[in-house]
Amino acid sequence: MPAQIIDGKKVAEEIRAEIRVKTTRLATAGVVPGLAVILVGDNPASLSYVTAKEKACGENGLKSFEHRLPADVSEAKLLELVRSCNEDPAVHGILVQLPLPAHIDESKVIAAISPGKDVDGFTPSNIGRLVLDDPLFVPCTPAGIVELIKRSGVPTDGAHAVIVGRSNIVGRPLMNLLIRRSVNATVTVCHTGTKDLARHCRDADILVPCVGRAGLITGDMVKPGACIIDVGVNQIDDPSAKRGHRLVGDVVFDEAVERAGWITPVPGGVGPMTITMLLWNTVLAAELGRGA
Ligand code: GUN
Repeated sequence: MPAQIIDGKKVAEEIRAEIRVKTTRLATAGVVPGLAVILVGDNPASLSYVTAKEKACGENGLKSFEHRLPADVSEAKLLELVRSCNEDPAVHGILVQLPLPAHIDESKVIAAISPGKDVDGFTPSNIGRLVLDDPLFVPCTPAGIVELIKRSGVPTDGAHAVIVGRSNIVGRPLMNLLIRRSVNATVTVCHTGTKDLARHCRDADILVPCVGRAGLITGDMVKPGACIIDVGVNQIDDPSAKRGHRLVGDVVFDEAVERAGWITPVPGGVGPMTITMLLWNTVLAAELGRGA
């Protein structure tokens, strides 16, 4: 029997409904959760993510404050903007869209965000809290992955989860979330130094590729009945598509769907969850009264 398709849009909408209940409640107390969205340069992918984030704010009772800076803006100017958002009581959450241009030190900019407004969960403080099992703001994509797994009824207690990719945005924080007692998985993290990736993947009850390489995970690398959360977003040529290209994940979907128990599509799997968890974190920041 083919896998159950995990509908990220549906799960995201479920959570957005919960968010609207919270923003409605906050509005009666005169609080509108505010998100400062900072975009440097005109990377088309970043621009489309930022636009989607701003739209989602408007649809769910949050206010976004847009800041677009030219690609050649100085690091000092960007730091100044971050600091002014830190001080702004109408701003509960700050998002600096990554990647930043090469002349800017990304880690310096992230570290400048006040941890209480770091709704991306990227600051050393928030990552440290997650590692120490006392999370405040959890990075949005990993948080969304856990929600997808839990809300789809995938058993996690004692499951072997295999993450492919060790990025600061996905792989590393996800590892820490999956070993929490509330999930209780045993985690293997594969990366470019891993020998025999296929062997590790075949042993996974929960497989999470987050590499950005189309075709990386083929059907023979999937354990029958496994849950596959495909985080990859890759544009590939497709002459039959309207624009001549389409988006695929890291998994060969048509092969994997025949063996897996659950699988997320790309697009429509993890993507909608990332933005939803950003809204969630921003509302949490407002609830915690971090505006001042
Ligand atoms: N670039 C890719 N993913 C993300 C994300 O979740 N947050 C930010 N700020 N930048 C990103």
